Amino acid sequence: MIAVIGGAGYIGSHTIVYLIQQGKEVVVFDNLSTGHREFVPNHIPFIEGDLANKEDLVRLFTGYLQIHTVIHFAAFAYVSESVEQPSKYYQNNVVNTIKLLDTMLSYDVKKLFFPQHVQHMGTR
Ligand SMILES: NC(=O)c1ccc[n+]([C@@H]2O[C@H](COP(=O)([O-])OP(=O)(O)OC[C@H]3O[C@@H](n4cnc5c(N)ncnc54)[C@H](O)[C@@H]3O)[C@@H](O)[C@H]2O)c1
Repeated sequence: MIAVIGGAGYIGSHTIVYLIQQGKEVVVFDNLSTGHREFVPNHIPFIEGDLANKEDLVRLFTGYLQIHTVIHFAAFAYVSESVEQPSKYYQNNVVNTIKLLDTMLSYDVKKLFFPQHVQHMGTR
């Protein structure tokens, strides 16, 4: 099973459609901060949760022990806002990603697909 983090967002929701077409099993994890619940087809398991919240991540990986791969799209992604509010972007795009990675390791999940976040880390 593939966990799509941020799967209710723009790129994530298109990715899950593709994965389903390829016959993959998918679970979506998203806090709906910029995503939309209706972007995720009803038959796909959906966990409403926040990467910042350890209990939410445990709920995902404990609830779906068959997860072997994570595709990580959960981030803030507005370039101009990242310059105005760098710590907001650092917290979500860097710190929360580390929380995800730590949790993956504790569940022995070692496959990660990750888009280019570097430009949104709040650096000037
Ligand atoms: N849209 C593009 O053209 C583009 C291009 C290159 C890279 N990217 C990168 O792809 C990723 C996704 O971009 P997008 O355009 O789909 O953005 P998006 O805002 O549509 O999707 C991000 C999703 O992550 C969720 N999310 C954010 N923080 C979360 C958290 N802490 N916990 C759980 N869920 C959280 C949001 O609710 C949303 O559904 C970003 O890293 C972005 O930088 C996007």
